[in-house]
Amino acid sequence: MSNSPEADDSVLEIRGQHPLSGHIKVSGAKNSALVVMAGTLLCSQACRLRNIPDLVDVERMAAVLTALGVKVTKEADCLDVDPSDISHTRAPYEIVSKLRASFFVIGPLLARMGVARIPLPGGCAIGARPVELHVRGLQAMGADVQIEHGTVHACIPGTRGRLQGAKIYLDYPSVGATETLMMAATLADGETIIDNAAQEPEVADLANFCRAMGARIRGVGTKTLTIVGVPSLHSTEYAIIPDRIEAGTFLIAGAITRSTLTLSPVVPEHLGAVIAKLREAGSDVQIESHNRVRLLPGEEILPTDIQTLPYPGFPTDMQAQFMALMTLSNGNSLITETVFENRLRHVAEFNRMGANIRVNGNCAVVQGSSILSGAPVMATDLRASAALVLAGLGAHGTTVMSGLHHLDRGYERLERKLTQAGARITRIDGQSSTSPSDVTHSTVQPSH
Ligand code: UD1
Repeated sequence: MSNSPEADDSVLEIRGQHPLSGHIKVSGAKNSALVVMAGTLLCSQACRLRNIPDLVDVERMAAVLTALGVKVTKEADCLDVDPSDISHTRAPYEIVSKLRASFFVIGPLLARMGVARIPLPGGCAIGARPVELHVRGLQAMGADVQIEHGTVHACIPGTRGRLQGAKIYLDYPSVGATETLMMAATLADGETIIDNAAQEPEVADLANFCRAMGARIRGVGTKTLTIVGVPSLHSTEYAIIPDRIEAGTFLIAGAITRSTLTLSPVVPEHLGAVIAKLREAGSDVQIESHNRVRLLPGEEILPTDIQTLPYPGFPTDMQAQFMALMTLSNGNSLITETVFENRLRHVAEFNRMGANIRVNGNCAVVQGSSILSGAPVMATDLRASAALVLAGLGAHGTTVMSGLHHLDRGYERLERKLTQAGARITRIDGQSSTSPSDVTHSTVQPSH
């Protein structure tokens, strides 16, 4: 299906300073696809999902659904999901531990089956990532939730079989907690109000998918969601929105290589903060149509401060890529990460390439320079892996990036898309005992 989840021994060899040109097609949004797949559990009939990206994370979510007894078939970007016969209510630890988003099945599984047993996903490379907002919200809706031996056991007590509508205020506009609680509320008895809800486009996409199945949700895309529960939801066919983070990554690829690029499909409004900051950094982004943008690079890359925030603020998932761009700016930029507590680990890798970045707490001061030099680097998480590819595109010489399992989780054929636009990137399949200097080359195309 997609790149191997065991891509640990492979590397990308990126030869920098080659201009890009032409058009890049943007895939369906990973974060929408994953949660909409979880959302199919709400429905007792088959659903067809379109524009599903070909990613290791999607394979893992499909594996979680399959383990629950759901029939999942994939053809090209179309996923048929038949959750009519759910046979298990326990998600397997082996998969949840690898795919944090699979914890999000707890809401729909509990609402539909009255019971769900989901292992705690644990922390990850970017932070501790607790789930207490999910748990407290489900408890407010009448669920009995216990955490025992690393697993969250949730059930609806008594004989009523349905969660109860509730008024929930989220201490923080968590994307995952908003999605968990919104899904749970679609089948609850009565009205649920989620205040201080996340407004990310992927949350709205999930709400629109639930509405297409017959859910009653108001306030989509705002801080206050009102959900009136219905007894059951029906089959639907639904297309996932384009991936705004993948699109933003390609915009920065254009800016860092001083290249003109067009991208589609995109929803330009979803890229608002990224486009504003790219303009501040000297590039122009033209909105060519409702689903197409053009990046026009500036003469120089200007220093630009960013602070990551919940949507519509600057996305944390674009912080590392924007930092790559700032390493080649002609001044100092301050990058402040407020969403995750440990999301600056890529700084050390950029510095290996000759960047000058100092970290103080959750802030990074990037002293821009005109030159990065290619070096062996290690991807530290998913978005950092894309950022290192971008730095490699802008660097002199060759960058060899390992840790490709991060990249393959969430980018559909990144190196192939960039290569088709003119980049010089080769995926090299290695052996576990080899180092980047003695791996054997293979062509890019067949590795997917
Ligand atoms: C989702 C995205 C991820 C993105 C993030 C923020 C998916 C699959 N992943 O992750 O790519 O970076 O939104 O835009 O959609 N928090 C708590 N308690 C909770 C829940 C969250 O303290 O119960 C904290 C987290 O630790 C983090 C912050 O809230 O510091 C934001 O997390 P959240 O919005 O929940 O992110 P995810 O849904 O995990």
